[in-house]
Amino acid sequence: MINKPTPTFRAASSFFLLLLVHLSFLKVVISKEERENYIVLLEGEGAAFNGGSQIAFPANAALRETARNHSAVIRTEMVKSHDQFLMNNLESGSYKKLYSFHHLVNAFALHTTPSQVEKINKAKGVRLIEKDRCMKLMTTYTPQFLGLPTGPWSKGGKSRAGEGVVIGIVDTGIYPFHRSFTNHPFDPYCSDLPRFTGTCDTGPFFPIGSCNGKIVSARFFSAGALAVMPLNASRDYLSPFDASGHGSHVAAVAAGNSDVPVIVDGFNYGSASGMAPRARIAVYKAIYPDVGTLVDVVAAIDQAVSDGVDVMTLSIGPDETPQDTLTFLSVLDIILLLAQRAGVFVVQAAGNKGPSPSTLVSFSPWIMTVAASSTDRTYSATLVLGNGLQLQGVGLSELAGFNISISPPWNMFIKLPLIFGHPTGPTLGNGFLKYRLVFAKDAAKVNNSTLADECQEPKALQEGLVRGSIVVCNFSSGFYRRTSTLDAILATTKSLGAMGFVFAANPTYGDFVAEPITFSIPGIMIPSVSSVEALMQYYAEKTVRNEKGVVLNYGAQASIVEGRRAKYGDEAPVVSSFSSRGPDIIDAHLSLADVLKPDILAPGHQVWSAWSPTSAIGSILTGYNFALLSGTSMACPHVAGIAALLKHSYPSWSPSMIASAMITTASKNDNKGKPIMAAQSPFANEYQPATPFDFGGGLINAAAALHPGLVVNSGFEDYISFLCSLPNVNQETVRTATGRACNNSKRFPSDLNIPSITISALVGNITVQRTFKNVENRTETYLCSVLPPEGVEIRVFPTSFTIDTQLTQDLKMELKATKLLDAFSFGEILLTGSLDHIVRIPLSVFPVSLT
Ligand SMILES: *[C@@H]1O[C@H](CO)[C@@H](O)[C@H](O)[C@H]1NC(C)=O
Ligand SMILES: *[C@@H]1O[C@H](CO)[C@@H](O)[C@H](O)[C@H]1NC(C)=O
Ligand SMILES: *[C@@H]1O[C@H](CO)[C@@H](O)[C@H](O)[C@H]1NC(C)=O
Ligand SMILES: *[C@@H]1O[C@H](CO)[C@@H](O)[C@H](O)[C@H]1NC(C)=O
Ligand SMILES: *[C@@H]1O[C@H](CO)[C@@H](O)[C@H](O)[C@H]1NC(C)=O
Ligand SMILES: *[C@@H]1O[C@H](CO)[C@@H](O)[C@H](O)[C@H]1NC(C)=O
Ligand SMILES: *[C@@H]1O[C@H](CO)[C@@H](O)[C@H](O)[C@H]1NC(C)=O
Ligand SMILES: *[C@@H]1O[C@H](CO)[C@@H](O)[C@H](O)[C@H]1NC(C)=O
Repeated sequence: MINKPTPTFRAASSFFLLLLVHLSFLKVVISKEERENYIVLLEGEGAAFNGGSQIAFPANAALRETARNHSAVIRTEMVKSHDQFLMNNLESGSYKKLYSFHHLVNAFALHTTPSQVEKINKAKGVRLIEKDRCMKLMTTYTPQFLGLPTGPWSKGGKSRAGEGVVIGIVDTGIYPFHRSFTNHPFDPYCSDLPRFTGTCDTGPFFPIGSCNGKIVSARFFSAGALAVMPLNASRDYLSPFDASGHGSHVAAVAAGNSDVPVIVDGFNYGSASGMAPRARIAVYKAIYPDVGTLVDVVAAIDQAVSDGVDVMTLSIGPDETPQDTLTFLSVLDIILLLAQRAGVFVVQAAGNKGPSPSTLVSFSPWIMTVAASSTDRTYSATLVLGNGLQLQGVGLSELAGFNISISPPWNMFIKLPLIFGHPTGPTLGNGFLKYRLVFAKDAAKVNNSTLADECQEPKALQEGLVRGSIVVCNFSSGFYRRTSTLDAILATTKSLGAMGFVFAANPTYGDFVAEPITFSIPGIMIPSVSSVEALMQYYAEKTVRNEKGVVLNYGAQASIVEGRRAKYGDEAPVVSSFSSRGPDIIDAHLSLADVLKPDILAPGHQVWSAWSPTSAIGSILTGYNFALLSGTSMACPHVAGIAALLKHSYPSWSPSMIASAMITTASKNDNKGKPIMAAQSPFANEYQPATPFDFGGGLINAAAALHPGLVVNSGFEDYISFLCSLPNVNQETVRTATGRACNNSKRFPSDLNIPSITISALVGNITVQRTFKNVENRTETYLCSVLPPEGVEIRVFPTSFTIDTQLTQDLKMELKATKLLDAFSFGEILLTGSLDHIVRIPLSVFPVSLT
C-alpha cells in the first residue's frame, strides 16, 4: 500500500508526509475492456430539491415528516427507474449497479466496461458520465492557540459550544470507544436533533451501542471499493470502525469532547478538546486502508446531506486535478455544490502538495478550502554528545542518559543551556552522560549490509554491542527506496536492548523531513546533514580502530534529552510548507480562475488528537490512543468545528454567509503582530510573507467571525451564473453537469458575490460589485479604504455608507491596470465600521494589459 517511490528526494524522505502517503491508495491499473467504476448523472433533480429536503423545514415537525415521506417515495421511484434504465440499455451481466444516488442528484454508480458506457452515453436522459477516481486522505492545544476558551466558548462555556449542531465527517470511520467521543456522564446529550435522521450501521468492531449520543450516526460505503479490488478482511472492515486513525483524528479536532487528557506511553501531553466540543458527530466512512473511491465518497456525501448534517468536513481529495473536465464541474465539486444548495457548510482540505503554486486539490467557490499552519508550540529534541555539543533533532522521546536522581527532568531541561552552554569544552563527566554511542554499521554482523546500517533487522546486528548503547541508524538506500521503516528501527533497537537510537541523515541523500512522533524507547531523528556531520566527526575522534578499520574501543557517549515537553511562544502561525497553494485553477492545463483559494488558514502542523489504537497503517502508531499529526487534513476540521459554533449562534445563516464571516475577519498578523509568514521549504528556514494564495483571508479568528459586521451571500443561482461566465466554458457543459441552463446575460467570474476579489488577467479596467448585508443588530457606518495591489489603481463607490440592521449595501470597485507585471500582486479593501467591525476583502490581481 505504499506508492511507487518517486525519484525526487523530498518525497522519498518526507517522514511525516510518508505517513500520509501510507494512507494513499493503490492505483488500479486496468486494461481497456476491463471493468471500472462510473458515475452517471441523469436529467432531473434529486429529492432534496423536489420537496424532500428536511433542512428546508427546520421548525415544523409535520412538514418535516411530509418531506421525509416524500423523499422516501422519490427514492423508491428513482431506484426503480435506475434499474429500469440499466435493463433497457445494457445487456444483463455486463454491469453491476453500485449505488442509486437520490438525495442531491438523480444519478447512479456502476461497475462496467467502456463499451457498455458508450451505450449509456448515447441513451436518452443521460447528462454526464464520469469515471471513478482515487481519493486520498490528505490537543489539542489548538483551541487555546485560536483563542476559543476566552472568546467563543466563554459565553455558555465549552460545555455548550456547538450544541445541537451535527458535523458530518467523510473519512476513514471512527474509533467509537475513544474518550473524545464518549457521551458526557453528567450532561448527556438528549435526542433533540429534530432535523437529523441518521442511523448506526454495525459490523466488525462496531457493535450495537457504538452510536452513543455524541456519535449520532455512523455509516459506511463500500460498493465502489469492493468493485475495484478485493478488500482485506483483517483491516478493510465493512463497518464504520476506523482501521486507520485518520477519521478519528479529524472527528476529535472538530467536535471531540473537551478536557480529554492526552496520555501517551505514560506521559501527559496536556488535554485535548475539539473546536466545538458539544457538537454531534455523524460518521460517513468511505476510505479504507487499502482503497478509497470517488463513488463511495459521493454516496457518503449524498447520504450525509440526506441525513441532515449541518456541516460536512472532507479531509480527503482527489489524487490529481480532474483531467477531462473543468475543476469546478467534476462530479465531486458538483455534488458539493448541491450539498451547499441544500444548506450544508462544506469544508475541504487544500491538499498537501505545497509549497509550489497552483497545487490545490480543492477548487470551487462554494467550498471552504483550508490551508495549514504551525502553532507557537514546538517540541524540541536534543542529542547531547560527550563533548558537550548539542545536536537538535526531532522526536517525542523520554530522557536517556541523565542521572535522573539529581533532579526532575523539567529542571534539567531548564538548566540545560547553562550546563551545556560551552559546546567546545568537555564540561561534563559527573555521571551525566552514560551511554555508549555505536554506529549500527560498526555493530553489523556482515559488512556492507543496508539492513544493519539502517537497523532494520535484529539478526543483522551484534547484540553485545547494541545492548545498553545508543545506536546510530543510517538513512540509507532502503529508506530512500521506502523499503525500510522507522517501525523496524524501533523494533530492532528495542529487541536488542538498546538504551536508545539516533536516526541520522546521510550526506549522500541530504536532509530529510521529520515530524515529532512518540517513540516507545528513547530516540531522536537528526534530519539535518550538517548536524550528523558533527556527530560523525565526534564519533570518529573517539573511536579507536585497527588498521583494517575494525573498532577496538568505543569512546563516544551521548544522551537523548527529554523531548516531550513543549515550548510555547514561537512566532506563529507560519503557513506550513506542505500546505497546497493558490492560485486556483480551472482545468488540468492550469488555466487560472478568478477565485481566491485557499480560503482560510487553520492549525495543521503537529496537532494532537484521537487515534485508533488498532490502526493498520504503520505499526509505529499502533496501540496509541493519540497521535501528533500534520497535514491540511488536520487544519480542515478546525474550520468545521468553528463553523458549528457559528451555526449554533446563527442557525439561519447560509453556508456562504458563514464562509464570509470567517474570511473577512481572519487575521493577517501573527502572535508577534508581524505579517504571517509562509514556509517555502520543508528543510531550511526559508520564509516569505504569506499572500492570499497561501492563506486566503488569513488565520481563522473564531471570536471575530461571530461578529463579522457585514457578510456577503451567494446561492445556487449565483454559482450557476459564475460557471456560465467562465471564459471558454461551453454552456452545454454547465448544463450537463449542473442540470441548469445558462442565461445569456454577460457577466464575469469576478462578479460572484464572494468576500475576495481575484482577477487573473486584468486588461485595462474592470468594475466589480459586492453586496454586503449587515448581520449585526445595530445600524453602523462604514468607511472604505483601499490598499491597492502593485500596478493597479482602485476606486470604490461609495467611499462610506451607513447600513441598517439586516439591510444590504452594494459596493462598486473599479480596478484599473497602471503597470504591467509578470505575476499577481496583492492588496485589500477594508471596511471599517463605527462600531469597530472590520471587514477585509483580499485582492489578488494580475495586470496583463493597460488597455
Ligand atoms: C409518513 O409515512 C408514515 C409511514 O409510511 C405514515 O404513517 C405517516 O402518516 C406519513 N406521514 C405523513 C405526514 O404523510
Ligand atoms: C491484510 O491485512 C493484514 C493486517 O493488516 C496484513 O497482515 C496482511 O498482510 C494483509 N493481507 C494482504 C493480502 O495484503
Ligand atoms: C569487514 O571488512 C573488513 C575489511 O574491510 C574486515 O577486516 C572485517 O573483518 C569485516 N567484518 C565483518 C564482520 O565481516
Ligand atoms: C563495501 O562496499 C564498498 C563500496 O561499495 C566497497 O568498496 C568495499 O570493498 C565493500 N567491503 C566489503 C567488505 O564488501
Ligand atoms: C551512512 O551511510 C553513508 C554512506 O551511504 C556513510 O557515508 C555514513 O558514514 C553513514 N552514516 C552513519 C551514521 O552510519
Ligand atoms: C435564468 O433566467 C431564469 C428566468 O429569468 C431564472 O429563473 C434563472 O434563475 C436564471 N438562471 C441563472 C443561472 O441565472
Ligand atoms: C474603463 O475602460 C473603458 C473602456 O473599456 C473606458 O471607456 C473607461 O473610460 C475606462 N475607465 C477608466 C476610469 O479608465
Ligand atoms: C441580535 O440580538 C439578538 C437578541 O438580542 C441576539 O440573540 C443575537 O445574537 C444578536 N445578533 C448579533 C449578530 O449580535
